[in-house]
Amino acid sequence: MLLEQIYEGAPTVFSGRFRTTINELTDQRPALRPEILAEAVGRLVGLGTFSAATKLVVEEDKGAILAGPVCLATGLPLAVARWYPYDLPPEAGSPASVVEVSSEYYTGTLYLNGVTAGDRVIIIDDTVSTGGTLVALIEAVRRCGAEVLEALVVTEKPANGGVAAVRARSGVEVKPVLRVAIDAASGLVHVLPPDDDAAAGPAAQAAGGPAAQATAGRRLVSATALSGPGPAVPARGHGLAAVGGTELCRLRRVIAPGGAGVYAKCEFRNPTGSHKDRIFHYMIDALERRGEIAPGWTLVECSTGNGGAALAQVGLARGYRVVVLMPAGMTIERITQIRAFGAEIIETDPDGFLLLAEDKAREYVRRHPRSYFLDQSTNPLNWQAWQSAGEEIAAEFRRLGRPVDTFVCSIGTGGTFSGIAAALRAEFPDMVTVAVEVDVSAPLRAKRDGVGFRHRPHNLMGLGPGKIPPNAREELIDEVRTVSGEQAWAMMKRLIAEEKLFTGPTAGANVHVAAQVATERPPGESVVTVLFDSAWKYVSVWDGDYSRRHVTGPEPQRGH
Ligand SMILES: Cc1ncc(COP(=O)(O)O)c(C=O)c1O
Repeated sequence: MLLEQIYEGAPTVFSGRFRTTINELTDQRPALRPEILAEAVGRLVGLGTFSAATKLVVEEDKGAILAGPVCLATGLPLAVARWYPYDLPPEAGSPASVVEVSSEYYTGTLYLNGVTAGDRVIIIDDTVSTGGTLVALIEAVRRCGAEVLEALVVTEKPANGGVAAVRARSGVEVKPVLRVAIDAASGLVHVLPPDDDAAAGPAAQAAGGPAAQATAGRRLVSATALSGPGPAVPARGHGLAAVGGTELCRLRRVIAPGGAGVYAKCEFRNPTGSHKDRIFHYMIDALERRGEIAPGWTLVECSTGNGGAALAQVGLARGYRVVVLMPAGMTIERITQIRAFGAEIIETDPDGFLLLAEDKAREYVRRHPRSYFLDQSTNPLNWQAWQSAGEEIAAEFRRLGRPVDTFVCSIGTGGTFSGIAAALRAEFPDMVTVAVEVDVSAPLRAKRDGVGFRHRPHNLMGLGPGKIPPNAREELIDEVRTVSGEQAWAMMKRLIAEEKLFTGPTAGANVHVAAQVATERPPGESVVTVLFDSAWKYVSVWDGDYSRRHVTGPEPQRGH
């Protein structure tokens, strides 16, 4: 692993009371390479129980370099503690939380803004040595009325006693990626073998054992949760936060009264911020069982970003290299997240959109031995993975003692639609399904109307790939409706402002159509839909305008 390589044998200097290591992560000597940052961030993300947290906190030191990408990867807001005061106007909110700090590097005052009562915080730092900084940060967070769940650091220097000191003084557990010692004779750093005691203790359990699954409750939302979080799909001991078990929320404010109720499955709350977290553990498990892949191989996937990020995280945790073929022009948030998990992105010509990316993926695996194209668009393991979400929804309605009357879901690969529809249909045979397409790229609509299909560029990334994907199982589709980019983005803004659901534009597409369907059905009936991904993935294109990024689509095609 790269981190072990840069620490093992690294020189040290005196920094006050102790020796401190010199390497590119801690001192940017030589300058920090993206692959080192990506590995450090990926391992921190694999270590934390982010599904239970509402905020990240970091001190404005070297830890901040790590905390930014962790913020992008987890979708959690980041509060930064400063070493100097400045006057914020009273309307900016509560005053900073001020604490004294005495650490290996700095003695003085810390000023923390941005944490509010009720927050559940994970602290990020590069190193724990004596633990002084972490103790001060924990104190600052607690003075805001917030709770500290845990602290994640890249290195622990056990000789300086920081982890034990933080535990004794605050009760907070510190989880390190690496443990290092400094050899007194040479002054060089040595990476210690993993701590067996710690591995069996609370830290290891929280990283992926049963305790993690028990605490993997999802964050509450303002829309009315139909029930509490369901059981999450096990993280299978790969040190990752649990997937699935997302809330089903009843939407109240964006749905006109007098019609059916609309319920939304909050898939955007999965660990990498999208519904795609559901599929890759499932696919890899099945392919490993069949002997088609093994750790050390390269997994290749085409994606507009969500699938790429989900696969990159799982691949990193399970010992695979990941290559994502992605049309140029996707949002910087998605690109950063994929790279933060150490995956390689190969950008393809945006004019060929996903169809070209798929051709390039096939070409890649032909040229690279021990590589495998997962192909979410055609691989049936995709829709099969989605049955778990359908079963979760069915269980909620069984509990309520009534059926799901209509299921509304838009189509990208079709995996989400088909898997959920298949599971719900098995339970509620009279249920009607509505597949949703983008108005300017609607091959199912064109096929049903018996007209030629033409793909045009749009701003609903993840939908409208320019073909009917095999995973959109047509026998499960009753109706096809279309939505425009404008309608979807407008509904996304309403979901954020009115329902307090921080979800993306394709979720807006689903809810726009679900709201329309609800007005046509009687009160007492239930319409179910899906909120795919998180709004933070779109901050850099908040106006929905990708045109300056040259995102277009494939050449017009004629039917199928
Ligand atoms: C943001 C977003 N919404 C919706 C979808 C569609 O999901 P599926 O591929 O399961 O049809 C995707 C797929 O990439 C997506 O990224």
